[in-house]
Amino acid sequence: MKIIKYLRLPALLVVAFMINVFAVQNDLLVDPPKDKTIEQKIDSVLARMTLEEKIGQLTLFTSDWDVTGPTVRENYKADIKAGKVGAIFNAHTAAFNRELQRIAVEETRLGIPLLFGYDVIHGYKTIFPIPLGEAASWDLEAIEKSSRVAAVEASAAGLHWTYAPMVDIARDPRWGRICEGAGEDTYLGSVIAAARVKGFQGKDLAADNTLAACVKHYAAYGAAQAGRDYHTVDMSERVLREVYLPPFKAAKDAGVRTFMTSFNELDGVPATANGLLLTDILRKEWGFNGFVVTDYTSINEMVDHGSAANEKDAGEQAINAGVDMDMQGAVFYNYLAQSVKEGKVNVKTIDEAVRRILRIKFELGLFDDPYRYSDVERERRLVMSPEHQEIARDVSRKSIVLLKNERQALPLNKTIGTLAVVGPLADNKSELIGSWSAAGDYTKSVSLLEGIRAKIGPGTSLLHVKGCEVEGADKSGFEAALVAAAKADAVVLAIGEKAQMSGEAASRAFIDLPGVQQDLVKALAATGKPLIVVLMNGRPLAVPEVHDKASAILETWFLGTQAGHAIADVLFGDYNPSGKLPVTFPRNLGQVPIFYNMKNTGRPMDPNDKYTSKYLDSPNTPLYPFGYGLSYTTFKYGVPVLSKNSFKASEQITVTVPVTNTGTRGGEEVVQLYVRDLVGSVTRPVKELVDFRKVMLKAGEKKEVVFKLSADQLKFYDRQLKWVAEPGEFDVMVGGNSAEVQSVRITLK
Ligand code: BGC
Repeated sequence: MKIIKYLRLPALLVVAFMINVFAVQNDLLVDPPKDKTIEQKIDSVLARMTLEEKIGQLTLFTSDWDVTGPTVRENYKADIKAGKVGAIFNAHTAAFNRELQRIAVEETRLGIPLLFGYDVIHGYKTIFPIPLGEAASWDLEAIEKSSRVAAVEASAAGLHWTYAPMVDIARDPRWGRICEGAGEDTYLGSVIAAARVKGFQGKDLAADNTLAACVKHYAAYGAAQAGRDYHTVDMSERVLREVYLPPFKAAKDAGVRTFMTSFNELDGVPATANGLLLTDILRKEWGFNGFVVTDYTSINEMVDHGSAANEKDAGEQAINAGVDMDMQGAVFYNYLAQSVKEGKVNVKTIDEAVRRILRIKFELGLFDDPYRYSDVERERRLVMSPEHQEIARDVSRKSIVLLKNERQALPLNKTIGTLAVVGPLADNKSELIGSWSAAGDYTKSVSLLEGIRAKIGPGTSLLHVKGCEVEGADKSGFEAALVAAAKADAVVLAIGEKAQMSGEAASRAFIDLPGVQQDLVKALAATGKPLIVVLMNGRPLAVPEVHDKASAILETWFLGTQAGHAIADVLFGDYNPSGKLPVTFPRNLGQVPIFYNMKNTGRPMDPNDKYTSKYLDSPNTPLYPFGYGLSYTTFKYGVPVLSKNSFKASEQITVTVPVTNTGTRGGEEVVQLYVRDLVGSVTRPVKELVDFRKVMLKAGEKKEVVFKLSADQLKFYDRQLKWVAEPGEFDVMVGGNSAEVQSVRITLK
């Protein structure tokens, strides 16, 4: 490598020294002996690092490409050269990253390779459905595959590390970041978290097509008060451990290599300086040995939180609580050396943080070949490959949820005659890829209109009218829409939100359809033509009037690059929808927070008793419950049969439920298993998902779906915060959504 060249050419070295570029004299600690363990190699690197170089490894800066907040540093290339930065984010493409890597490897004293991170949330360039939408597939294999494709593309484009999966449980649809996670349920969120980690990281982190994953935002960020982003979070440790932490633990158990802190405070302590989260739980209880990065400038923000006097103080609190890497805040960069001098931070703490970061760099194989992820040829061949488009189309249609289908308005006939395609999102590409769409190029996405056009038979004519915008009060386009509807045999109406109405810093105080879209629904429904509403949105919307007026409704989220084809596959029956909601859709904002696994209360709802838990002006029930979704066929559930009616904690029993496809076409059904602990030392929810199976049934086919159930699935945190299953009676429920289940009772001895 370069240093060897220098050593062979002492004359050159002298010249270099003379012109004061001594820094380029690469001491090549990057080449520690091959036969040593990673820990021994880290020892040999650490032994040669100065304090400034160590702090450099704890520092992450953005390139000047994309940023999601203030750019604290502009001169990042000079910082790389000075060994003052160990990782860069928002830099991608093989050629660009190769050049930055070259500076780190060839022009710094130690030549430690950079780590390149990016928010590859739902695809790199081939964009998959937003994570909330993809969660609606309940298809773990498909979800793992989409993360795998994302990693294949991103790693070919010079990236090592993705800031995903986002596993924050979210029960407030006002919160814009609900679109980035897997919804409201802890169990579903946990298995999806694991699938995504496996997809990104593959089997071997050192392979050139895998990324280190970063599970975020640790923790409880989704519980921001009033659904307002970055807002305060306050909850009991029981709820934290039972509801919000399990998806993180599942990611850790699946091998996730990094964690990102969250912006919020928790019980008065910002997550970024929260020793309970970062050290006691993450390191000591869970044994995590990867590294923790802050979320952007969350160290600096501790001053505004009011828990640190200044940035230096904030940095000391963060590193002492267990943070390893400072993203973009430049707090470690500016103050950590001083903090060490003053004895506020121990060098051992810094060494440990450096060790954790170097460990991941070694595991990624960066010390063996720092350029292995930057391969222009591989990038050209793999990014947006036809195979990836096929996979995206498949995952996208699996993510669509059929919310209503009156008188079998769907599927449409390909030779329908005349079809009116209306709405602000019908001929749109820019919104389809959703928020956090990495390097996604929306011009490459397939619009709904293009998808329909590619699908219909030659005799079918299409009329397209926009009707209105997503936002604003302009109704001047309604007339043309009504004229088209009058001529058509059916109307497909694509409405919803813009992509940037969800995601970070995109909370909404109203969760109905923006603008005059609702009025357009009403006007079109009044024509009496079959009205097929295609919803595109990043959060549950409260749309009871749409439900009343439309003949059929498809929830399509933001499906990504292949959206138009995927929706057309479902509209015309080439794919039978199988998605189920991973989150409750309320009837109105007043019901929020609303989720299926609430507690019963001491005065459960009784319509005939005023003094019970309810509203005067709204039902308690949601518009669409968690787990809900229709199919073009119908499924009938039998009563679940238990292998035993009572069992010991050491035993495992089976729950067998007959499911029959009672319709005329094949379809997939997500069979869901819920339990309820009837009496607990601590009150238990009325229902909790503990397992599910996605099964394919041919028309008329009947299958016995078998679940295993053990005491482990009945555990919760008791009054002493011990994780226990308490003996007693439980209801075991099976159904196709959380509201319609067949129930049997079982006793745990
Ligand atoms: C977001 C993170 C993201 C980071 C880096 C922050 O603003 O909260 O989710 O990973 O920016 O882009």
